[in-house]
Amino acid sequence: MGAEGFSILILGAGKATRFKSEYPKLLHPLAGRLMGEYVLRAATAAGAERLYMIIGHQAEAMRRAFAREGLEFIEQKEQLGTGHALIVARPELERCPTGVVVALVGDAPLLRPETLSALVATHCKERAACTILTMRPDNPTGYGRIVRVGGKRVRAIVEEKVASAAQKRISEVNTGILCFSRQHLLAHLGELSRENAQKEYLLTDLVEIFNRHRLKVAAYEAPGGEAWGINDRVQLAEVEKTLRLHKATTLMKDGVTIADPATTYIDEDVVIGPDTVIEPGVSLRGQTRIGSGCHVGPYSTITDSTLADGVTVRQSCVITKSEVGAGVAIGPFAHLRLGAVIEPEARIGNFVEIKKSTIGRGAKAQHLTYLGDATVGAHTNIGAGTITCNYDGEKKNPTTIEDEVFIGSGNMLVAPVHIGRGAYTAAGSTITKDVPPESLAIGRSHQVNKESWARERKKR
Ligand code: UD1
Ligand code: CA
Repeated sequence: MGAEGFSILILGAGKATRFKSEYPKLLHPLAGRLMGEYVLRAATAAGAERLYMIIGHQAEAMRRAFAREGLEFIEQKEQLGTGHALIVARPELERCPTGVVVALVGDAPLLRPETLSALVATHCKERAACTILTMRPDNPTGYGRIVRVGGKRVRAIVEEKVASAAQKRISEVNTGILCFSRQHLLAHLGELSRENAQKEYLLTDLVEIFNRHRLKVAAYEAPGGEAWGINDRVQLAEVEKTLRLHKATTLMKDGVTIADPATTYIDEDVVIGPDTVIEPGVSLRGQTRIGSGCHVGPYSTITDSTLADGVTVRQSCVITKSEVGAGVAIGPFAHLRLGAVIEPEARIGNFVEIKKSTIGRGAKAQHLTYLGDATVGAHTNIGAGTITCNYDGEKKNPTTIEDEVFIGSGNMLVAPVHIGRGAYTAAGSTITKDVPPESLAIGRSHQVNKESWARERKKR
């Protein structure tokens, strides 16, 4: 191989029949990424010189999901089998500058780049026409079996559907990842036919074809479990579990305490600092980043959000697309969403919802409150049961509360409204006009006590 390099062709045109889905397998989410993302990343990390992806079913959605520099899409309009995918790619394969091409099924997300490199290295060392990545799963059902001559040379791959009882007992199987000498592949691709039980062009038939031409077919066995193919949603859940445990293990080794990895769901791209504790039932999704020394309480879900160091999130909080500063405490049962920014040392208590608002340093909103489209200054206190009335039925209006303000309990702040620095509002106020700094606003009707009213009512 050396300077010559290799290219990778990802097969992703299939219809995911066994998923019983509208969407191709590669578009199904798996531990926070699309399934196709895993093989793409492995192929890139292995150092493939050219990267192609065969698409067909939902081709436009596939392009949108996976487009990136250096990836070329090849459309297989009719999906007539894994061998047909290569036949369709012939023009690109002819132009491809590398001597070695790897065909890679799109549904093997656990594959590591190191294994791809080792496969190519074996292929080059063996001077083979084709080298199959094989494995020995506990249960080989569903996979093509590797048939060897006298336990040595690979003679054929026999698909499950047509395998004899004896062949079904073979423990070595095809991972669907095959390395080819491009020249030999192009020379014999035309010999594939649909005259078989599946009525499909089977990529695996190339092994017999090469044998017929006395071309060498070698094999390289993948380390345990990493080349599993996902054919249905049961296998999807199994691989998801494997990926999640692997992610949790990596984090734990990096200094994160995860109380119960089996019930904790952390997406692949999530980053967590050391000495952070994650309680059971927590979901950390998407591009979430959590600092060090944080504590995330049970059953909280944090999505695409950033938490600085020393943040406490108590039980059952939902935090989405938000930013939380150092030393902040949130919850229990709080909801931050759509661009909530909580500055350091602030306190957000139970049953508080915050949307598209900035809460200043050291400010407090501790109980039963809705703050939407609001800016709250530093060290301001928002009394229990306060609501920013941000929606007038047509549009959202802003509320601005300056530093060191005291908003009494049960206030309705009718936006747009501005409350000046150091001002107070009386409990139960409906604030419809701006409040000047350092003043007291009372926006409620006077209380009337009708003495003896109840006693007289009883007499009536
Ligand atoms: C394939 C192999 C089998 C191997 C298994 C490993 C063949 C004939 N069989 O079977 O030996 O043990 O993988 O997981 O190759 N695809 C296309 N175009 C098509 C058909 C499929 O691009 O016309 C794509 C699919 O989107 C998928 C991949 O090829 O990503 C593999 O297809 P799949 O149907 O899953 O093959 P298996 O039956 O698993
Ligand atoms: Ca498969």
